[in-house]
Amino acid sequence: MKKILFVIAMLCASAAQAQKADYRIIPLPKTVQMDSTRVFNLTSGMGIAYDASDPEMARNAQFLRQWVEELTGISLKMTPDDKNAAIRLCLGLPTDKKAKKAKKGVSLTEQQQEAYAITVNDKGIALYGRKQVGLFRAAQTLRKALPVVAVEKAKAAEIAFPFVTIQDEPRFSYRGAHFDTARHFFTVDVIKKYLDLLALHGCNQFHWHFTEDQGWRFEVKALPELAKKGSVREQTVVGRNSGVYDGQRYGGYYTQEQCREIVNYAAERYINVIPEIDLPGHMQGALHVYPNLGCTGGPYPVWQIWGVSRDVLCAGNPETMTFLKTVMGELCDVFPSKFIHIGGDECPKARWKECPKCQAKAKELGLVDDGKHSIENQLQTWINHQMEAFLKERGRDMIGWDEVLEGGLTEGGIVMSWRGIKGGIEAARQHHRVIMTPTDYCYIDYYQLKEQWGQPLAIGGYLPVSKVYSFEPLVPDQLSDEEQKYILGPQVNLWTEYVAYPQHVFYMLLPRLDAISEVQWCRSDQKDFDDFKARLPHMKQIYDRIGVNYCNGVE
Ligand code: ACM
Ligand code: ZN
Repeated sequence: MKKILFVIAMLCASAAQAQKADYRIIPLPKTVQMDSTRVFNLTSGMGIAYDASDPEMARNAQFLRQWVEELTGISLKMTPDDKNAAIRLCLGLPTDKKAKKAKKGVSLTEQQQEAYAITVNDKGIALYGRKQVGLFRAAQTLRKALPVVAVEKAKAAEIAFPFVTIQDEPRFSYRGAHFDTARHFFTVDVIKKYLDLLALHGCNQFHWHFTEDQGWRFEVKALPELAKKGSVREQTVVGRNSGVYDGQRYGGYYTQEQCREIVNYAAERYINVIPEIDLPGHMQGALHVYPNLGCTGGPYPVWQIWGVSRDVLCAGNPETMTFLKTVMGELCDVFPSKFIHIGGDECPKARWKECPKCQAKAKELGLVDDGKHSIENQLQTWINHQMEAFLKERGRDMIGWDEVLEGGLTEGGIVMSWRGIKGGIEAARQHHRVIMTPTDYCYIDYYQLKEQWGQPLAIGGYLPVSKVYSFEPLVPDQLSDEEQKYILGPQVNLWTEYVAYPQHVFYMLLPRLDAISEVQWCRSDQKDFDDFKARLPHMKQIYDRIGVNYCNGVE
C-alpha cells in the first residue's frame, strides 16, 4: 500500500512539475544572459498586454497567443494595457532608452530596425521591439523557446521560463527563400504555409518564381489568354526526361487577387514578396500563347520536358518589348516590392543567331563582337537595360541572375549569384548589390542525404544540411570590408521539376531552412554545427505539431 501511495505521489509531482522553456533556439539569438536558478511560471488564464490603440501590435500579440496555445495548450487572455500582465509587448528597446542621448541623429541599419529584446523576471515576460517587426521577431523567439506539450497534458500545462535577458538582431538585411511555382503549381494555402515557415526562421524575403517554359502562372489582365492557356501543358514527362509521358493535362495560375492576398499575408509576417518573370529565356509558356514573339513563329507547345528550351523571346521584334512592359507594368501594380526579378538566366542564343529580325536589331544598335561579349549577349544586355529603366521609372530596383553581369549592369541592378560565388564577387567588386545563392550551398532541390535510396527523386546533386550551414556569404578572403557591404545576404532556392506535392516541398525545405537561417541571422563566430544539430530536434517537434513534413536525417 505504502509503495502504491509513493508511486501515486511521484506521478502527481511529475504532472504538476512545470516544463521548461529553452532559449537555445534556431536561429540562435545574439546574446542570451540567463539565470536558470529562478523561473517565471506561465499558466492558462494569464494575460498578454499590448497597446490597444495599435492594431499592428494587437496583431502581433494575437499571433503570440495562438502560438502559445498551439504548442502548449496554455490559453492566454488578451489584456491590452494591463501593466501587470504576465506577457507584455512594448515598443522601444530598454537599452535605447538608456542610450537615448548618444543615439540621437544616428540612422539605423535595416538590421538594427529589426532588433528586439526579451526579459523574463519575477514580473513576467516582456517583449521589446524597436519597431513592430522586432516585436514579431521577439514573439517568434518566445514561440520557439516553448516546450511542445503532449496533447493530454496541455490543459493543465505550466511553463517555467528561466529568468533571462535576450538581445538580438539579424546579421544580414536580406534573408531570402525562393520557390519555383512554375514547373509545378502550388495552391495559395501551400504558399502561405511556406511563408509561415520563413517567418518562423526570421526570413524576410520570398522570391516567387512565376514563369517557365513549362508554364506561365501570373495573370496579366491586359493579356487574358496568357495565363489561361500558357499555364497548361498537355502532359508531363515522367522522371528525368525518360521519353515516357504521364498523359495528364497539368495547369494552374495565380490571379492578381490571389497574388495580393499572398502579398498581404507575407507583409503581416514581415516578409517582402519579390516576383520573378524570367526573361528573355524560359518563355515557352508565353510563346505558346503568342508565337509571334518567338524567332521562328512556332508553334510552341507549353513544354512537357525538363531543361531549357532553345525558343526564347525574339529580341528583334518590337512587340516583344511591348509585351514585356505590359507584363512588368501589371507585376509592379500587384507587387509593391522595391526589388523586381527579371530572371535573365540561361537564355540560349541559337535562335537569335539565325533570326533576321534579331540580327537587324543588333545592327541598328551598332553591336559588334568585341571578343569578350558576343553580339547576342549584348542583345540580351540591351533587353536587360530596357527592363531596368522601365522598373526604375516605377521606383523599383531590378534583380537578375548572375548572367546579367556578363554584358555589364547599370548602376542600381542587383545580382543574384547562382553559378557559384564568382558572379557575386565580381559584382561586389564593381559595387553592385549582391544576393548570394550559389548552387553548391543554396540549391535545396538537390538531395540532402548521401544514400539516395528511400529519398524522393531529386534533380541530382548532394546538399546536406551541414553544407548549407557552412556557407559564408561574405567571402572575407576575397572581398575587402568595403566590398562585403554590397552583399545583401543569402537565399536558398527550391526548383520544382521533381517536386510536385506539398509534402515533398517541405521535405526539401526542412531542415535546410534551419541551416540557412543561422547563416542569414547569426554572426559567423556564433555558428557551431554540433550545437545546431542539438537544437534541431526541438524544431522537429514544432514541425510535427504544426503539421509540416521534413527530412528526418541530418548529414
Ligand atoms: C537558375 O538556377 N537557372 C537560376
Ligand atoms: Zn529573333
